[in-house]
Amino acid sequence: MASNLIAPSMLAADFGNLQRDVEMVNNSEADWFHIDVMDGHFVPNISYGMPVISAMKKHATKPLDVHLMIEKPERYIEEFAKVGADIITVHHESTVHLHRTLTQIENAGCKAGVVLNLTTPVSVLEDILPKCYMVLLMSINPGFGGQKFEDMTYQRVKKLRKMIDEQGLDTLIEIDGGVTDKNIAQLAEAGANVFVAGSHVFKSENPTDTISNLKRLANN
Ligand code: DX5
Ligand code: ZN
Repeated sequence: MASNLIAPSMLAADFGNLQRDVEMVNNSEADWFHIDVMDGHFVPNISYGMPVISAMKKHATKPLDVHLMIEKPERYIEEFAKVGADIITVHHESTVHLHRTLTQIENAGCKAGVVLNLTTPVSVLEDILPKCYMVLLMSINPGFGGQKFEDMTYQRVKKLRKMIDEQGLDTLIEIDGGVTDKNIAQLAEAGANVFVAGSHVFKSENPTDTISNLKRLANN
């Protein structure tokens, strides 16, 4: 009965019609809201922060999966928890004391996850894995939606899946960047469990149907 999850990325939503897009996700087969926070330092783009997340939380009926692409995320964990984050993921490359930051996320009442950029070896997580509710593997260089999926991700998923299974853990593997109906089944097959999709969902003719289709392909 294990079901793979779909997390539409709100970065690709229409910010002028945010409530409408939140409700579309509520009424779809999606599982989580994926929320990308960018600070213009860790990544070369600025997205949104606490006030917008707080506004989305008012209408959202599904968990908020908050992906922090910010330097020294430990400065803001409690604030993101306060505005309604359910899961908080931080980049391995953004925080010096990763173990401490994950503990901080747990203490704030959220589930804690680690994100790896494309070229950070999955092996860096070997010791910290038992503390990770989820590992997010970037399948693009973070900072922008609408980029092309990098094929090197399949191998990385397989390696990480092997590490998780060898340690007997149930850590989730999430994939973020360029996920479409063309690669989701193969990613699920490689061992991924949670799929972020931004432009593929929101730029499609019928986002609700697109989500259903992704959900089906991810659970075949
Ligand atoms: C990029 C973000 C992604 C982005 C994905 O740095 O982390 O979540 O919104 O967008 P698509 O699905 O369009 O690649
Ligand atoms: Zn993201």
